[in-house]
Amino acid sequence: MTNAFDYQGKHVFISGGTSGINLGIAHAFSRAGAKVSVMSRSQEKVDAAVASLAARGGKASGHSADVRDYAAVEGALKAAVANHGKIDVLVSGAAGNFVAPALGMSANGFKAVIDIDLMGTFHVLRAAFAHLNKPGAAIINISAPQSYNAMEFQMHVCAAKAGVDMCTRVAAIEWGPAGVRVNSVVPGPIENTEGMKRLAPTPETEQIVLDSVPLGCMGTVDDIANCCLWLASPMARYVTGTVIPVDGGWSLGGTSISASGMKKALMAPPKK
Ligand code: COA
Ligand code: NAP
Repeated sequence: MTNAFDYQGKHVFISGGTSGINLGIAHAFSRAGAKVSVMSRSQEKVDAAVASLAARGGKASGHSADVRDYAAVEGALKAAVANHGKIDVLVSGAAGNFVAPALGMSANGFKAVIDIDLMGTFHVLRAAFAHLNKPGAAIINISAPQSYNAMEFQMHVCAAKAGVDMCTRVAAIEWGPAGVRVNSVVPGPIENTEGMKRLAPTPETEQIVLDSVPLGCMGTVDDIANCCLWLASPMARYVTGTVIPVDGGWSLGGTSISASGMKKALMAPPKK
């Protein structure tokens, strides 16, 4: 029997693939044999990510581009395809976040996150479609629980990620006939990531999050990467247009973050 999770010869392109969860996804596909392209703004982060993939025997290349800049995204995709051939798996994971109440963010602050998360996802999907290895290509958008759970201090992210999941569903309908599957993966709270550091910056806020996860622990970047390995594989050939939480049950809402004292903890003056 062939190994469905063998990605030898496949090209995986990951926007925002230079740190955290997305870099974990890059490493997982690389370990499974794929050629991996990562793209983000910082050339330094791009170089470090490529070096870390190469150090483990991976075939990787990197591109510096801002997902808010359509022409730059197009350029990065063209360069990646010139290096590694048509794209078999596209992961759109670039995102930005900060914690602020709606009245505490400027219009430009709200727009910054909409531009990175939502416009960035549209740019990456729109520009990549021409380069996908159709039929059989898979697209994975990295979403967030804010997409369906209203969360205080997260109006910008809630709006952006809800839009991302709608892009997933619409693209699944429009691109299904071309043999392209499109799905969202929704990480829950993932340990040792920038996202969690921003959302739960203190041990107290981290505990509040932990208490709200039915499985009682944070996830790891490998938990998210494993779902992506399955979702992009032939094992998931009939799965498209879905939004899949990988979150220890967090999204079930049994224990609401809002009602749990997060607001008080986040807004409290730092302890001396
Ligand atoms: N509270 C309120 N507003 C904030 C803020 C905060 N904590 N942090 C940034 N902003 C506002 C800025 O004041 C600015 O608005 P202004 O021009 O009206 O003053 C606006 O957001 C854009 O900030 P800027 O720093 O110019 O944007 P950027 O494009 O350089 O960075 C961010 C985008 C703000 C999202 C930045 O945090 C980032 O680059 N994040 C990437 C990493 C990350 O967030 N990882 C977690 C992923 S879940
Ligand atoms: P991270 O390490 O900060 O990853 C964000 C990545 O996006 C970085 O590689 C960053 O690199 C890149 N990026 C940011 N803005 C960009 C832009 N304008 N153009 C191009 N690249 C850009 O954060 P993370 O916590 O691992 O989050 C990764 C993904 O998981 C995000 O989509 C996030 O919403 C989602 N998520 C995370 C959690 C969590 O617990 N951490 C939970 C739910 C969802 P540069 O700085 O070099 O651009």
